[in-house]
Amino acid sequence: MDKLVIQGPTKLKGEVTISGAKNAAVAILPATLLIDGICKIENLPNISDVRTYCKILETLGAKITWFSDNEIEIDTRNIGCTQAPLDMTSRFRASYYLLGALLGRCGAAEVGIPGGCNLGARPIDQHIKGFEALGAKVDVAQGKISAKVKKLTGTSIYMDIVSVGATINVMLASVLAEGTTTIDNAAKEPHIVDVANFLNTMGADIRGAGTDVIKINGVKSLHGDTTYSVVPDQIEAGTFMLAAVASKGDILIKNCIPEHLDCITAKIVEIGGTVEDLGDSVRVSMNKRPNKAIVKTLPYPGFPTDLQPQMGVVLSVADGISTINESIWDSRFQYTAELNKMGAKIAPQGGKTAVFEGVKGLVGSQVCATDLRAGAALLVAGTIANGETHLYNLQHIDRGYENIEEKFRNLGAKIQRVSEPDETMCDT
Ligand code: UD1
Repeated sequence: MDKLVIQGPTKLKGEVTISGAKNAAVAILPATLLIDGICKIENLPNISDVRTYCKILETLGAKITWFSDNEIEIDTRNIGCTQAPLDMTSRFRASYYLLGALLGRCGAAEVGIPGGCNLGARPIDQHIKGFEALGAKVDVAQGKISAKVKKLTGTSIYMDIVSVGATINVMLASVLAEGTTTIDNAAKEPHIVDVANFLNTMGADIRGAGTDVIKINGVKSLHGDTTYSVVPDQIEAGTFMLAAVASKGDILIKNCIPEHLDCITAKIVEIGGTVEDLGDSVRVSMNKRPNKAIVKTLPYPGFPTDLQPQMGVVLSVADGISTINESIWDSRFQYTAELNKMGAKIAPQGGKTAVFEGVKGLVGSQVCATDLRAGAALLVAGTIANGETHLYNLQHIDRGYENIEEKFRNLGAKIQRVSEPDETMCDT
């Protein structure tokens, strides 16, 4: 098992370039199944979730050519199979998009019950409700989800919960449906807009992505022969913004969309940091101990749950007592036990709230990434802690961050990836 050995403390300084968004990429890849042709995707993050998705598409009949680490061509003219491999699809959450895409393309789909980070209950009732409203029959049994339909027909669907996955999945299923589909109470995250932009570039007619109401006018087919560039990753950018603040550093974060980072910028300014909007980059600096804060995670444009653990690291060393309320996931405070091993004083109050009594500094320790964003947060914690941190369970981090240790090293972090064949540190 690999681990990261981090020697701290370091004030992170310099430039970092943000990769394409993981959560957009893992929706755009299955969306290519709706095209009967060839398309090129650029700015694709080279992360393990993307590589797994490409392998799944190949098992379904897609032909994929890699031009570079971040650029591929996908030929989806010969999709012959509607059964995605159960072992691969049950490994990560975003495999649920194969349901919407294969239903749209072939009228049938079968995938393993989606896995992904253990953040508590992760129901997909809203996805199923959407498919059924479009006319599909959906069965969940024996570790898999199957869906079938003779003809998808556009309709109005009200989402009982604001769900990123359900919004995108219903969008995928309705692009080739007959008539108009309306999604009310849709999620508005940047990657929803990006998936809609991708589909529209290929000939879809989707309006209103990024607002509460999305209208999809069904079209007969989507064309290929187009190149699309994935939007920059809002969460990776936010991770480096918060790393600059936690380390009292100064980082120029390039290739990002400052507007997507508004709520993070607002919190950083509130706790005493500086954020400069430079158009396609932001510069974040901090020259003192952060102020305490109250943070509540919310769907976009609220504070993202995927930056909650990284914000938790900042507040663990803030001046005073802070509170984080997690309103999306039930089990997103697992990282606090790891951070407490590093000298933090965090008291979870049931599943949804934690109180952070700021300490002056953290100390290096042996810690485990309990999920993807927890891993990124603990990496930041390791760079600001006094002494050596050993961070285990890197497979979580590798799912969503491209070249993460190299990017941190370029900012001055002393960090090495080390192989330890018999390591049994973590049981998460
Ligand atoms: C996506 C992101 C994930 C992020 C989350 C919230 C991807 C691949 N993952 O996950 O990184 O943390 O958005 O921003 O894009 N819910 C239901 N029924 C459903 C669907 C969701 O009750 O059918 C609930 C969930 O339990 C959760 C909330 O809705 O409490 C939001 O979930 P959702 O937005 O669907 O998250 P994901 O799309 O799975």
